[in-house]
Amino acid sequence: MSSSTETYRERLAQLKAEGRLRALPAAGYFRYDLSDNDYLGLGRRDDLRRDFMARCEAPLTAAASRLLAPRQKEAVELENTLADAYGRPVLLFNSGYHANTGCVSALADARTLIVADKLVHASIIDGIRLSGARFVRFRHNDVRGLERILEKEGAGFDKVLIVTESVFSMDGDMAPLRGIAEVKGRYPNALLYVDEAHAFGLFGERGLGLVRELGLDNAVDVLVGTFGKGAASAGAFVAASQTVVDYLLNTARSFIFSTALPPLCHAWTLRMLQEIFAVDALRANLRAISERFRRGLEAVTGQENPSCSQIVPWIVGSSEKAVELSANLREHGVNALPIRRPTVPPGTERIRFSLNAALTDRDIDEILKVIATL
Ligand SMILES: Cc1ncc(COP(=O)(O)O)c(C=O)c1O
Repeated sequence: MSSSTETYRERLAQLKAEGRLRALPAAGYFRYDLSDNDYLGLGRRDDLRRDFMARCEAPLTAAASRLLAPRQKEAVELENTLADAYGRPVLLFNSGYHANTGCVSALADARTLIVADKLVHASIIDGIRLSGARFVRFRHNDVRGLERILEKEGAGFDKVLIVTESVFSMDGDMAPLRGIAEVKGRYPNALLYVDEAHAFGLFGERGLGLVRELGLDNAVDVLVGTFGKGAASAGAFVAASQTVVDYLLNTARSFIFSTALPPLCHAWTLRMLQEIFAVDALRANLRAISERFRRGLEAVTGQENPSCSQIVPWIVGSSEKAVELSANLREHGVNALPIRRPTVPPGTERIRFSLNAALTDRDIDEILKVIATL
């Protein structure tokens, strides 16, 4: 007789057979750790952490959601600091996942058409699913494809929400934001939503992102940034008009129905912002070593690489191969994780190298040497 969990066991066995069974990575020391998103290396800085811990007196719990919690000081200070930098109101969320699921589902309804890049993050897809809106994807980074969808369907809806990332999490390439903004500008009922998770802290003046670097603030209606990556903290924010921020505060369920992050966490993010605003040299180093690594990887693999950022994929085409190569890299002191479907489309399974600004040219050359031996 099959038990109530038999189907789960079968599914797990199937995932294992396909080389797609997930497990928590083993803890360990690696000479080169290219697995996390601490792109500026700020989370590796014991001096910053010790100094912060010695001085910080912020509470360890918010003990309620933002709408109920009396302890607002650090959150409000963080929102104000970001609002000053972006020149428009900001609302914090507990994570990028909360921000995307909450905002997309709040901003769209059955009278909305959502047009999203084919490769947007799972948190955006989940927000779209929750919204009940009509959803059409355009081919990755294909402005003309986006335009065709809008020409065909745009007028039939109250609103069109165009969604993209600025730097894509898996290919490390960049959205053609200027072209997308230009198309959006031709549709008065369109809003542009840009997730800067992998660009915040890394691109643009003071690390304010790719939208700022390209001078597109006015074209982007909803800008999402996250703190768990370049900002070496946790949480996320949305920068938008006062109307949109007020609307999200009243309707985004992930904002309303979740305990706010600890004030201590907001205080650390504020501390990290001071660093981020000031580290142009680190950003420049990260760009230079990323370019060096991308070119080196192309030379070793003979494959053109899509990356133009600190995220550099090595596309190997199967889960088994990605898992095997990742294990081999680890044996040589390089930690870089295999990425499999459904996170990436079938046939594009890869090793994802996530570079950080603490690496030197020599480190990059050493890592490339290891890759060449495999
Ligand atoms: C593009 C993008 N958006 C949002 C998120 C989610 O952010 P968080 O980790 O803060 O939940 C991620 C995380 O990997 C991401 O890559």
